[in-house]
Amino acid sequence: MTDCDNLLRRFVDPETQQRFFQDPDGVAGLYQFTSKTSHHVYVAIDPTKTPELEQRGVVVLVTGAGRGIGRVSLPYRETSSMIDMAKEYAVDASAHNEQEVAVYFAKAKAKAVIICARTLSWLEETGTEMYKVNPETEVLMQQVDVTSEKDVKSLFDAANDRYGTVRVAVSNAGRNGEPKLLADSDTESWWNDYETNVKGLYLIAKYFIKNLGEKTGTLVNMSSTNSLSVIPTQSAYGSSKNAANRLIEQLHWGKFSPSTR
Ligand SMILES: NC(=O)c1ccc[n+]([C@@H]2O[C@H](COP(=O)([O-])OP(=O)(O)OC[C@H]3O[C@@H](n4cnc5c(N)ncnc54)[C@H](OP(=O)(O)O)[C@@H]3O)[C@@H](O)[C@H]2O)c1
Repeated sequence: MTDCDNLLRRFVDPETQQRFFQDPDGVAGLYQFTSKTSHHVYVAIDPTKTPELEQRGVVVLVTGAGRGIGRVSLPYRETSSMIDMAKEYAVDASAHNEQEVAVYFAKAKAKAVIICARTLSWLEETGTEMYKVNPETEVLMQQVDVTSEKDVKSLFDAANDRYGTVRVAVSNAGRNGEPKLLADSDTESWWNDYETNVKGLYLIAKYFIKNLGEKTGTLVNMSSTNSLSVIPTQSAYGSSKNAANRLIEQLHWGKFSPSTR
């Protein structure tokens, strides 16, 4: 039995699913990769408390920074179930802005953070949050569809012209379309998960590596536990995130760019 089989068996067990949704540690318990579970930004990964993590002089790109994980994450509450936390978040998302990807790069004193998504108004809200935590980090907001090669090329051209080479790229924009069984799904919508989660990552990786040249850089892709599980109504999302994992492995171990990690 493979690790994936084990994960699947654990996920389809009704008692496990119940724990998954009621227990704040449910997700970690189901897919435990580390010996310790943390729900807060602890000192070793907090750039405001661990100076070695500061990103001074670094140009960073975060895709999908208008909402969600790119900008704001659910806070952990000792007493809340995942359902309670989601309900709290739905009522007042602005109260939960302690673990944002884009805002953390401002806290880490990056030289510049380029934030992109298709909706400019949401990016403006992210930019405002970033300015509040560190007005010295420059923010460039770009309206970009990551599935468009023209948009992604222009994004890197604009970043280069204004700040120099992007050295950290967080490919976070993602899509989890309709929760339908494959036979009932809309073909275009099903494929759109691949467009965003695979082609989007491919284009970001391609222009990131091209622009790095001989320089070193770090590419981060936001994957999902769904990439390791089999959920009948998530065939597009799960399999596209799995394909994205594989692409990242190819980049990590292959010879596409010796300077990228
Ligand atoms: N939320 C979770 O529980 C969870 C769990 C595991 C993994 N993830 C992964 O984490 C990432 C973020 O998830 P999330 O829940 O924060 O997502 P979200 O709330 O749906 O936000 C997605 C962000 O990506 C942008 N986006 C979507 N399609 C885009 C496109 N074609 N071009 C440019 N930007 C695009 C959206 O803005 P516009 O619509 O304005 O473009 C938005 O800013 C995704 O890759 C997701 O698969 C999420």
